[in-house]
Amino acid sequence: MARLTLAEIYSHPVAQKFVNRAGLAHSISTAFHAFRLAKERGVHPDLAVKAAFLHDMGHYQWYNNGEWDYEQYRLHDIHAIKGAERAHKLLIRLGEDRFKAKQIALAVLFHTNSFIPDGQVNRTPLQQIVADADEADEEPGGNHHYRKINISKAWRKIHELDKKIEEELAQFPYENTGDEQRLKTPD
Ligand SMILES: [Fe+2]
Repeated sequence: MARLTLAEIYSHPVAQKFVNRAGLAHSISTAFHAFRLAKERGVHPDLAVKAAFLHDMGHYQWYNNGEWDYEQYRLHDIHAIKGAERAHKLLIRLGEDRFKAKQIALAVLFHTNSFIPDGQVNRTPLQQIVADADEADEEPGGNHHYRKINISKAWRKIHELDKKIEEELAQFPYENTGDEQRLKTPD
């Protein structure tokens, strides 16, 4: 089965609507961080990049008089749950492998512990990459959601990520079951 590309994912109007709402620049740079971390840690780069790109699909703006309302966010936000469901539905619609779609959705779900009552989450390596990549791109006051990128540059970056993933997959075999790890470590 041919790999579903990031470009194919972002071509879908549902991806554009929700990724743009969360911040296209933030999604792309989180995906670049995820690619780097996946390479370093021997985790499947296709899953890491897709999960990072889609991780904030459930983003909702908790504003009160123009200020981000942390209390409302803490009490009511379920963006990781919504995002996981949206990402899964979109990926299945686009013909993604079901096993991969579930791994990606779970990595979206656990990218934050904000919705877990005691804050405890025991992440797999793939899930940890998405959390770390998101944190690496965070700015104070949630400003990372508003950073702008022009659309032609965004498309260039998306194609660049696809190319990096293809090159990495051509070079190293990855296991396709369980929490994907590189079968052979690079020399
Ligand atoms: Fe994020």
